[in-house]
Amino acid sequence: MKFFIDTADLEQIKEANDLGILNGVTTNPSLMAKVGIKGEAAVMNHYKTICELVKDGDISAEVVSTDFKEIVEEGKKLAAIHPQIIVKVPMIKDGVKAMHWFTANGIKTNCTLVFSAGQAILAAKAGAKYVSPFIGRIDDSNWDGVELIAQIANIYAIQGYETEILAASIRSSLHIVKCAEAGADVVTSPLEPILGLLKHPLTDIGLAKFLADAKSFK
Ligand code: G3P
Repeated sequence: MKFFIDTADLEQIKEANDLGILNGVTTNPSLMAKVGIKGEAAVMNHYKTICELVKDGDISAEVVSTDFKEIVEEGKKLAAIHPQIIVKVPMIKDGVKAMHWFTANGIKTNCTLVFSAGQAILAAKAGAKYVSPFIGRIDDSNWDGVELIAQIANIYAIQGYETEILAASIRSSLHIVKCAEAGADVVTSPLEPILGLLKHPLTDIGLAKFLADAKSFK
């Protein structure tokens, strides 16, 4: 399973990248706004900086248009920033049409705002490289986000779809583990749940004992 970080914060991207386990970055307009990036030029420049920071990783850059022609024009501009850019397109009618156009024209896409298996089937049919089910937001609505990942993984395996399942809206380290178990190809997570995977009290207790015992033979 690939690890992406879900943030536009350069410090956090750098910290995850330095761990050596990072395969990419996802952003969205809310995450860009959170780090104070405003205006088209600043947004474009920020994506370029992220691409240069995470060499070889896929960097999702989201369109903010909702009309087919405008999505295509915006997506072309985003894709031209850097070869690592994946154009993130919402699961709406014009979005599906645009993803089909991008696929036919060699531009890779990430279909975002996916909350059902039916939407995931449409994303695969449109040729999206990634489909992003928002599992945390599904859990918030008292449905089971991880169950949706398992359902999509089962459908994609039966149908032979090549679209990669990118579990998004991750809220905990347990979400990451459960998504791996359910068949996600990628998980995109904020930094904290990623670092949370490191933690176990028995590791801390065991290490303290090893270090204490090591003092005796120094
Ligand atoms: O990148 C999209 C997704 O991960 C959003 O997560 O926490 O805003 O539901 P969240």
